[in-house]
Amino acid sequence: MAKDLAFTCTSCGAAHSKWSGQCDACGAWNAIVEEAPLATGPTAKTLGAKRGHAITLTDLATQEAAPPRTMAGVEELDRVLGGGLVAASALLVGGDPGIGKSTLLLQAAARFARNGLKVIYVTGEESTAQVQMRAQRLGLTESPVRLASETNLRDILTTLEAEKPDLAIIDSIQTMWADHVDAAPGSVSQVRAAAHELTTFAKRRGISVIMVGHVTKEGAIAGPRVIEHMVDTVLYFEGERGHQFRILRAVKNRFGPADEIGVFEMTGKGLAEVKNPSALFLSERGTPAPGSVVFAGIEGTRPILCEIQALVSPAPQGQARRSVVGWDGGRLAMILAVLESRCGIPFTGLDVYLNVAGGLRIHEPAADLAVAAALVSAREDTALSPECVIFGEISLSGALRPVSQTENRLKEAQKLGFTCATVPQVTKRASLQGMTLRENRDLAGFVTEIFGIKADGRE
Ligand code: TYD
Ligand code: MG
Repeated sequence: MAKDLAFTCTSCGAAHSKWSGQCDACGAWNAIVEEAPLATGPTAKTLGAKRGHAITLTDLATQEAAPPRTMAGVEELDRVLGGGLVAASALLVGGDPGIGKSTLLLQAAARFARNGLKVIYVTGEESTAQVQMRAQRLGLTESPVRLASETNLRDILTTLEAEKPDLAIIDSIQTMWADHVDAAPGSVSQVRAAAHELTTFAKRRGISVIMVGHVTKEGAIAGPRVIEHMVDTVLYFEGERGHQFRILRAVKNRFGPADEIGVFEMTGKGLAEVKNPSALFLSERGTPAPGSVVFAGIEGTRPILCEIQALVSPAPQGQARRSVVGWDGGRLAMILAVLESRCGIPFTGLDVYLNVAGGLRIHEPAADLAVAAALVSAREDTALSPECVIFGEISLSGALRPVSQTENRLKEAQKLGFTCATVPQVTKRASLQGMTLRENRDLAGFVTEIFGIKADGRE
């Protein structure tokens, strides 16, 4: 029999037989803690000895109608949910502490209540008075949302069973305590057990449950990733604390497209929808400076323009720094390597800083070319045309690969007043009146055309 695994990663929930500084399943540092293992199931031998009931099999064709959905009436939220909240579904809303999850869900609760749902909001983190004060600040005191401050899961489930709401919000799953599990609240076993109870309860009673989960960097509190597989929909609320923009991103959705985003702005009166995110992300752009590039990206089904900024400066001594905000550090290393070996532009001895303006986080490889352009522009101290957007994927050979939804990206750029785009060469030309396309086959050709640098590094 396998040895009992008594160490669990609080970030991803992976089990380990011994402690180590880094989890080899998810790469998180300092996240492994010792925990009593969950009761193991019956062994294969006992399963074979006692026969179970035969289960009913059915066809793929269904007679049932699609599950009913309720709109919040907040376009940014409804789109991320895949067209409204599905009845009897379990959702997880994850995010850093203090990013605005409670604010978002209190506002959503009030909207759903106004649209006819019976909503119960259970907070395990704050007192009812604190939530009432927030409701007052948000102007929601008239809303028929029912409120309780409680952490005992058994009491909560009993209450929900009696009250029969359409939607229950649990803020947060890490504060819930299931008394049949002998572990502290916030531990992996407690969080898993509480989420499991709530999810099965949601399905059985036809109640939608939204659970809040704090992302934890390290320590003994389990992060939301531990329960992602149990729920129907996983949304993450992202943003930089210093910025007012917040992005709600669907990373998993059994009832709609994943990767859809909703953009909000944190104001003194709670979260406000942002209908035209591109205009907002570009609004702080000043005069064209070296290292600044406008990237035409796609988030979910929506084109979003944003500014990518790079700064390259001589490294004082020792190892040069590579610092990234809003993009992947590994991908930056790759672009730097391609620039060096395919285009003869070295970055050794130079500090490199890369930043996606406005607190947006980009996951698309289509940003490669925009990043490369920003890096070379910063290194050469040459500003690019402010009328131009850039996008395209870079391969290790230095070739430029076309990306999806070229037309959509170009249309959005044109809508915002851009007149030219630098893109990879495609077989089927995308064309748009009034928009000049500069096409390149490879990165070396691109840097020669824009910056006049030949592939061997000579200008
Ligand atoms: P909160 O929803 O409590 O975050 P979370 O539940 O994710 O931990 O929001 C925290 C921050 O939001 C807090 O620092 C104050 C700010 N805030 C506003 O700026 N405006 C508002 O109207 C509200 C309610 C909060
Ligand atoms: Mg909160």
